[in-house]
Amino acid sequence: MNQPISISPDGIKYPLPKEEDYKKEIARIEKLVTQARKKGQEIVVVMGVGFVGSVMAAIIADTTNKNGKSGKFVIGMQRPSARSYWKIPKLNDGISPVKAEDPEVAPMIRRCVLDKKTLVATFVYDVLKLADVVVVDVQLDYAKNELGNVRNGQVEMTALEESFDIIAHRIPAHCLVLIETTVAPGTTEQVALPAMRKVFRQRGIKHDPLIAHSYERVMPGRDYVASIRDFWRVCSGINEKAKQRVVKFLNEVLNTEKFPLTVLDRPIESETAKVVENSYRATILAFLDEWSLFAERNGVDLIKVIKAIKVRPTHSNMIFPGPGIGGYCLPKDGGLGVWANCHILGFEDDTFKMTPMAIDINDTRSLHAAQLVRDALRNMSLPIASAEVLILGASYREDVGDTRYSGSEILIRRLTEMGAEIRVHDPYVDCWFEFENQEEYPDGSKSVFFRNQKKLKDLRVQKDLNKSLKNIDALVLAVRHAAYLKLDPAKIVKTAGHPIAVIDCFGILDDERIRHYLALGCDVKGLGRGHIKRLKDEVSKKKI
Ligand SMILES: NC(=O)c1ccc[n+]([C@@H]2O[C@H](COP(=O)([O-])OP(=O)(O)OC[C@H]3O[C@@H](n4cnc5c(N)ncnc54)[C@H](O)[C@@H]3O)[C@@H](O)[C@H]2O)c1
Repeated sequence: MNQPISISPDGIKYPLPKEEDYKKEIARIEKLVTQARKKGQEIVVVMGVGFVGSVMAAIIADTTNKNGKSGKFVIGMQRPSARSYWKIPKLNDGISPVKAEDPEVAPMIRRCVLDKKTLVATFVYDVLKLADVVVVDVQLDYAKNELGNVRNGQVEMTALEESFDIIAHRIPAHCLVLIETTVAPGTTEQVALPAMRKVFRQRGIKHDPLIAHSYERVMPGRDYVASIRDFWRVCSGINEKAKQRVVKFLNEVLNTEKFPLTVLDRPIESETAKVVENSYRATILAFLDEWSLFAERNGVDLIKVIKAIKVRPTHSNMIFPGPGIGGYCLPKDGGLGVWANCHILGFEDDTFKMTPMAIDINDTRSLHAAQLVRDALRNMSLPIASAEVLILGASYREDVGDTRYSGSEILIRRLTEMGAEIRVHDPYVDCWFEFENQEEYPDGSKSVFFRNQKKLKDLRVQKDLNKSLKNIDALVLAVRHAAYLKLDPAKIVKTAGHPIAVIDCFGILDDERIRHYLALGCDVKGLGRGHIKRLKDEVSKKKI
């Protein structure tokens, strides 16, 4: 039988570890830990080295104590799944498993792994036995069973519950367990604590495990590292001792002098803070969806309207919603609260109205972007069926390579359903897992909500923009990546070979560029950009 492999985004095949590899691996790590202990370093295991865990692990590994020496030895522990195992060998080579615009990420990981030798990655759970602190950064998914109906979904608790069990069986009795994963409120005290306490009792440990909660506010992108290290944190612990331990730990690894900690009484408050924080953001984005449609229908440019309003300091956090609100957090975090209210806390009544509605609006916003593509092509007498459509941007936000719940995915799925031929370009995304693996993970794939999706498993993200532009019929500006902000209309049309439909989903085009495209014979449409008709009339009057 072939040995299962894990393929990294740059195409390298890594065979998954075999049974006999585990013994060797733990011996390797034990040796490194003995050396670290001799240097007086605290041993920190970061469980899950994904978008959050890999950078958090590096930040911890990079910290120095009062004497300027490395105070922590960090073991990034990652389960050896086909989807994620590759992150381990990459990290051990000093290469960041996440791609981002922040110039601090790659050198920090390289420095910690290769120079300071304070960061190592592994696949063996038994490293938990060596830990003084465990930081839990595994994902917690929220499965949606219908497009645009978050209520009819559920939190996938089993994997997290298994992680708590694995940790409780292995950690030393006085190890701090810091849960950073965004969890359903109530999880730390009502799920993790009883489960881990039970195992502790079986192990003959009389006191409770030291469990704390502190959520991440990381913004992958230009300020990736700073958004973890140089930013305010909220934390709490299940008892006074856990609270003191988490405060001490966070003070040692984060810049809390400049960005002081907020310590809350109970983990459910810290968990709720995270879910409310993200539900608030999801809601202020969702409410603009109806105004975006209003703007399109009534000659209003919502981009300029928002800019005008933001001058008022009380309204400065207003942001234009792109083609759907993606990323790992905003589409699910409110759902964690709605789900917890019933399934952890036992309330049957319909407490939540705005939170699920906001998520549902955000989850379906990109369907309207697909309509704009259809309409712009129709204005150029081209049917959407068989039209060559190039989508610029696969990730959920600018300047990162994270495609989770990206608006572009739903847009592409809808356009494909309507018969369009899709090409996609993104400077940060090497492999679009959600399409390439849609058949391996059908339960989690949004393909089930659309017809005609089979061919999308062969969709590959292009890196050569000029090549991607050749002979397209429509260009969709879907993500505000730096590379897309200043594209020259004349060059685009020349490379395409003829006038095209241009759809701006993110307020990327200024009026000058819109006029230029129109003057070149293109049709232009944009989410929330009702003033384009006015510019069109202006341009055609000039022509006469
Ligand atoms: N990505 C963000 O921008 C962001 C921001 C704030 C908070 N968060 C939260 O942080 C948490 C982690 O998110 P992420 O984006 O890093 O997810 P991710 O999927 O990139 O990383 C999670 C990693 O954990 C690994 N893993 C899962 N189960 C494991 C186990 N039992 N043992 C060891 N490893 C395991 C996975 O293989 C994966 O590599 C989530 O709760 C998320 O909501 C994420």
